[in-house]
Amino acid sequence: MTETRDTESDSEYVTLTDSVSNKSVDLPLLSGTEGPKVIDIRRLYAETGYFTFDPGYMATGSCASNITYIDGDKGILRHRGYSIEDLAEHSDFMEVCHLLLFGELPTPAQKEKFEHDITYHTMVHEQLNFFYRGFRRDAHPMAIMCGVVGALSAFYHDSTDITDPHQRMVASYRLIAKMPTIAAMAYKFSIGQPFIYPRNDLSYAENFLHMMFAVPCETYEINPVVADAMDRIFILHADHEQNASTSTVRLAASSGANPFACIAAGIASLWGPAHGGANEAVLKMLTEIGHKKNIPAYLDRVKDKSDATMLMGFGHRVYKNYDPRAAVIQKSCHAVLNELDIKDEPLLDLAMELERIALEDEYFVSRKLFPNVDFYSGIILKAMGFPIGMFTVLFAVARTVGWIAQWNEMIADESQKIGRPRQLYTGVGKRPYVPLEERG
Ligand code: CMC
Repeated sequence: MTETRDTESDSEYVTLTDSVSNKSVDLPLLSGTEGPKVIDIRRLYAETGYFTFDPGYMATGSCASNITYIDGDKGILRHRGYSIEDLAEHSDFMEVCHLLLFGELPTPAQKEKFEHDITYHTMVHEQLNFFYRGFRRDAHPMAIMCGVVGALSAFYHDSTDITDPHQRMVASYRLIAKMPTIAAMAYKFSIGQPFIYPRNDLSYAENFLHMMFAVPCETYEINPVVADAMDRIFILHADHEQNASTSTVRLAASSGANPFACIAAGIASLWGPAHGGANEAVLKMLTEIGHKKNIPAYLDRVKDKSDATMLMGFGHRVYKNYDPRAAVIQKSCHAVLNELDIKDEPLLDLAMELERIALEDEYFVSRKLFPNVDFYSGIILKAMGFPIGMFTVLFAVARTVGWIAQWNEMIADESQKIGRPRQLYTGVGKRPYVPLEERG
């Protein structure tokens, strides 16, 4: 492979040469504003008869996007150019939603309007309440989320035409606004409490806490430190470029499916323990380890290739350094525990010791495995009173804006095509059909 710059057209390309046939093909080399260059292989099959093979997309850019940038080696995450640390410290979730959706932080007037418009959509269709009764009370809330969010397309027919920019925007607002309501309803249903209607005088995070923890018979006091932490957790999970669930949303949407169906697909993908389900898995893992003295034996199992045990909350496809979101969450964890007067949280002590030991262990060091966003988030959510089954639901609530921003970007992109990967066929070749009576 050779890399060349064409000075006349000021473009770059690489030349791939098939060493058997000695045939060559020039493929454009594209540069983004940051990050590695990419080889544009769209003409590769037409010109050479070869496909590429990249299960898990280890070296494949699936789209061009101007929303989120990650440098995994340096541990950098930025949305529209703003670092996640700055956003987590100075911004709030509604501002970040505006930033992701429209590309800019809002002016004060834009912020007021945006918050008003989102708030206006927080209630769900009353008929949807009955939908919950079809689920078992002990259903996992993520199972309920997949079903209810998918069902939104059966309720909001006036925002499913993806060719109409106005309908797309209404669907976007509806999804961001209704997701906390739907999530809190899933929780209330599971514990047999009445649904709590949204309150439009509260912020997005406050309203969510209210719908989760208020009951009709008493006044629910919102703790501002907990509400701040909730808001920060939403910010930290808002978008993460082309991860599994976002790619799922894009792939589902590439066929022209409606936004509610696409976001339900994203929720399904997020649920897995290698992705958003990891926060729940971390807490289960810490509970299983139980005590600091059991850490070495647990890590021996993790390192044993014949044992499927993983160190949950560790490792990332892109970050080969500390996940910047984990650093922010770890700090928040201490603030929330202090505020709630939890002097001693054994799971936090255990997690910190586990992290310390793992980061000194050759297995994790050589593979560049660091804590990711899910390592500490479960501990903070548990302290805030969320049951373990709700952890991934909270991730889904926060990630909805990222999914929606990426969906809007994709629909507006005129070069967008239906996603259709190819394969390396390894099955049986052509063979004659054998009648049933001759088989056996
Ligand atoms: N515990 C033990 N070994 C690990 C871990 C782990 N958590 N993660 C990766 N490895 C090993 C893996 O076995 C492999 O070793 P070897 O080279 O000897 O075969 C090496 O590290 C490279 O791993 P990989 O499987 O090629 O990495 P990947 O990019 O395919 O997987 C991952 C990334 C996040 C799926 C994986 O690290 C993992 O399953 N971690 C635990 C689950 C988790 O915390 N997920 C949350 C990710 S962040 C939030 C989100 O995306 O939703």
